[in-house]
Amino acid sequence: MSTNPTSPQPSRCTFTLPTLITFTLLLTPPPPAAAEDDVNYLRGLLRSLRDPDHTLSSWNFNNNTAGFICRFDYVGCWNDQENRVISLKPADLGLAGTFPSDIRFCKNLQTVDLSGNNITGEIPTELCTWLPYLVDINLSGNRFTGQIPSGFGDCAFLNIIDFSSNRLSGNIPVQLSMVGGG
Ligand SMILES: *[C@@H]1O[C@H](CO)[C@@H](O)[C@H](O)[C@H]1NC(C)=O
Ligand SMILES: *[C@@H]1O[C@H](CO)[C@@H](O)[C@H](O)[C@H]1NC(C)=O
Ligand SMILES: *[C@@H]1O[C@H](CO)[C@@H](O)[C@H](O)[C@H]1NC(C)=O
Repeated sequence: MSTNPTSPQPSRCTFTLPTLITFTLLLTPPPPAAAEDDVNYLRGLLRSLRDPDHTLSSWNFNNNTAGFICRFDYVGCWNDQENRVISLKPADLGLAGTFPSDIRFCKNLQTVDLSGNNITGEIPTELCTWLPYLVDINLSGNRFTGQIPSGFGDCAFLNIIDFSSNRLSGNIPVQLSMVGGG
């Protein structure tokens, strides 16, 4: 991954993002590409997040029947017979650690709700490269710091972003405001 040499100097001014940004585009992403990496993603997620209340310990990776991850709590699949995750919503569980970068294995994700947890570090700038079909993402109520990532223009279907109640700094990138067409 090359870094963008034109990235602006991080602002020292830190503030809570005003509530949320809602876009009203109603696009339907194309059907998902075949992906059997989603199992790896969920395993990786467990590795990168701390789960103090052991809420996710019910995720049992030992039963490898088709679609077995679709029966996990907080996981939704495109259809129950295939391990292709469409939504991941482990919200309000006190999860700590940093943003799970193994989410890149989960190309077909449309909905991510990690709100109300205790996640620290930066929101990855590669988010939209990893998740091209992302429609809505809610990271509110965590302890994310750093710059709001740029590059949201790569998320062609992004409809709802809620990054409120974190410790993010900087402005919403131009690409982000272009998602809604203006
Ligand atoms: C694996 O999961 C399927 C679907 O939930 C269930 O029917 C089956 O009994 C499970 N197998 C084992 C060995 O637990
Ligand atoms: C978040 O993490 C801090 C430090 O580990 C801990 O003191 C606090 O109770 C946690 N908050 C929640 C809501 O889990
Ligand atoms: C994001 O999650 C928070 C906490 O669960 C909720 O209050 C808020 O309405 C959600 N944002 C959106 C845009 O749905």
